[in-house]
Amino acid sequence: MLEIIDQTKSEILSIQAGSHEQVEAFRIKYLSRKGIIPQLFDQLKELPPEQKKNVGKPLNELKQLAEAKLKEWTAELGNRMADVGPDMDLTLPPVPDKIGSRHPLNLTRYLIISIFERLGFNVADGPEIEDDWHNFTALNFPENHPAREMQDTFFIARNPDMLLRTHTSNVQIRLMEKQKPPIRAIMPGRVYRNEAISARAHCFFHQVEGLYVDRTVSFADLKQTLYHFAKEMFGKNTKIRLRPSFFPFTEPSAEIDVSCFICHGKGCNICKYSGWVEIAGSGMVHPNVLRNCGIDPEEYTGFAFGMGIERVTMLRYGINDLRLFSENDIRFLKQFKKVL
Ligand code: DAH
Repeated sequence: MLEIIDQTKSEILSIQAGSHEQVEAFRIKYLSRKGIIPQLFDQLKELPPEQKKNVGKPLNELKQLAEAKLKEWTAELGNRMADVGPDMDLTLPPVPDKIGSRHPLNLTRYLIISIFERLGFNVADGPEIEDDWHNFTALNFPENHPAREMQDTFFIARNPDMLLRTHTSNVQIRLMEKQKPPIRAIMPGRVYRNEAISARAHCFFHQVEGLYVDRTVSFADLKQTLYHFAKEMFGKNTKIRLRPSFFPFTEPSAEIDVSCFICHGKGCNICKYSGWVEIAGSGMVHPNVLRNCGIDPEEYTGFAFGMGIERVTMLRYGINDLRLFSENDIRFLKQFKKVL
């Protein structure tokens, strides 16, 4: 045994380990559970007591030598790698940074904005925590009218005059209060409604409001503007359809449908086999609303519209569950990297 110990000693003394791999190979060969040195210790146990003494000492020294070498090399490697981190191998190809992607709702928002910007619309913004006047009263919702409840409003308990806006139409009012016509703006933003969360409803979502007020703005302008938008957004062959509707802040009012761009009118489950999908509410700004903002309805007219960004996004990408937009699941979000 003494011979093996001697031999192992000179072997160890001749080794120079300069990399993590070599140091690890050394550790495994000499010091791991099944390594040479622990095995020699196992053999030591079997020896008669008088021999144990002779062999034990040099074997302990051998172990100390191996451990000292290991320590020395590890420290050396540590120093050398200190600048670049302990486990960094500079010869490996670089791992590209993971670049985040734009949220699909933002992609749609940017697209909507860019279409209207080319028509001369500005982008305007307003508060999400709003007072009753800007969300309802100025928009010609009668006091105590059930229409206020229709929108499932979150009222603020400490101050019943304050609420989370139920639509972006509040920004119309704020804009008209502080700016003289001509006004041509779109107003994207988040809105809130007290609805049970499901695949088709959420307690918050996003809208884009549009407003154009000037002398001689007519229903024909509304129709043509939204027709142009629909073609830019959903493709050249898109048609629009206007259905009579009611909103307190517009008269007359219309829902805007676009021809289904999935089946092109043949019928599919996106358009529920009708060939049309609803994308916006719209109408001519009610004279009371203009008056409430200090604009003379005898001199000016305007049109307005409002559409849901979630709805348009779901149609564009064939997304069937509204909750996906707010769950922040990267598997969902990363699919929108290159699409605008
Ligand atoms: N504010 C309406 C809603 O949230 C949408 C809307 C309809 C906005 C007609 C308008 C409009 O500006 O003219 O349901």
